[in-house]
Amino acid sequence: MSSASARAHANIALVKYWGKRDEALFLPTNGSLSLTLDGLYTTTTVTYGDGAADRLVLDGVEQGGDALAKVSRFLDRVRPDGLRAFVESENHVPTAAGLASSASAFAALAVAASRAAGLALTPDELSRLARQGSGSACRSIYGGFVEWRRGERADGADSHGVPIAPQAHWDVRMLVAVLVKAPKAVSSREGMRRTVQTSPFYPGWLASVDSDLAAARAAIATRDLDALGTVMEASALKMHATMLAAQPPFTYLRPASLAAIQAVWDARAAGLNGYLTMDAGPNVKVLCAAADAPAWQACLAALPDVVEVLCCGPGPGVA
Ligand code: DP6
Repeated sequence: MSSASARAHANIALVKYWGKRDEALFLPTNGSLSLTLDGLYTTTTVTYGDGAADRLVLDGVEQGGDALAKVSRFLDRVRPDGLRAFVESENHVPTAAGLASSASAFAALAVAASRAAGLALTPDELSRLARQGSGSACRSIYGGFVEWRRGERADGADSHGVPIAPQAHWDVRMLVAVLVKAPKAVSSREGMRRTVQTSPFYPGWLASVDSDLAAARAAIATRDLDALGTVMEASALKMHATMLAAQPPFTYLRPASLAAIQAVWDARAAGLNGYLTMDAGPNVKVLCAAADAPAWQACLAALPDVVEVLCCGPGPGVA
């Protein structure tokens, strides 16, 4: 029996990943750039042994079906010959509001599964491996600000996270307004596929990503919150606009999300500096200076349909 554990933090994309050029290898159509967050993380232990089948226990609950099948397929990339795995994973997210992240989950699993198999992979190798569980997981291998280079190669060897500024580089805050949960009608995998194949706005999205990445990199290097916030907000809203034009159309924006977006814009117009982003769900996140986090916390907590407001700083890479 060999066993190993790992901890990986969630990340939020500042310039979004939206679309795959290879679904099996999780190769993106565009580069993306994220901030790894403290406070939100997954710890995972993998133990290899002679069991009859893989097992997955998530937050104390035995899993089967698609969740187990996905983890089993992922483990096939690293498991020692013939051995089955027992995977125990816990999401450390201070809420029951369903913020569990596939990024922190597959980053932690990649590290624990390869360590337990006796493989000493480099961070870039771990990032490529994590990518094949969930694309955004390749960024959670590293702390701080991380770029996921799109890469050109068909085998994905050049498509992995690259750290561009460490955790201590810039003491910003990301607030997460956790809004009332609605069932997720469209997975991000299906949403990406549909958008790439049918949205007339998708070529426009692709055409603007490289300049967004360049602007984000420059803003991070000079710690320019207005420049970073402007490009971050634009990236998220452009991504959501592509979905509205897909066929059949879909959106992750709920009425409560729109109320939160309006509240962020109103607060900014009134002098509170901060910018919003959203992922493949209803929650609204705000990037701001550390000094402005209490005011944003109060602003977001006063919204209708808010379950909880989390406040995160830059987080570390996998350990
Ligand atoms: C909107 O990484 O969850 O959060 O690769 O299909 O597992 P798969 O998708 P996932 O998608 C994340 C999409 C996003 C943007 C981002 O994190 O860059």
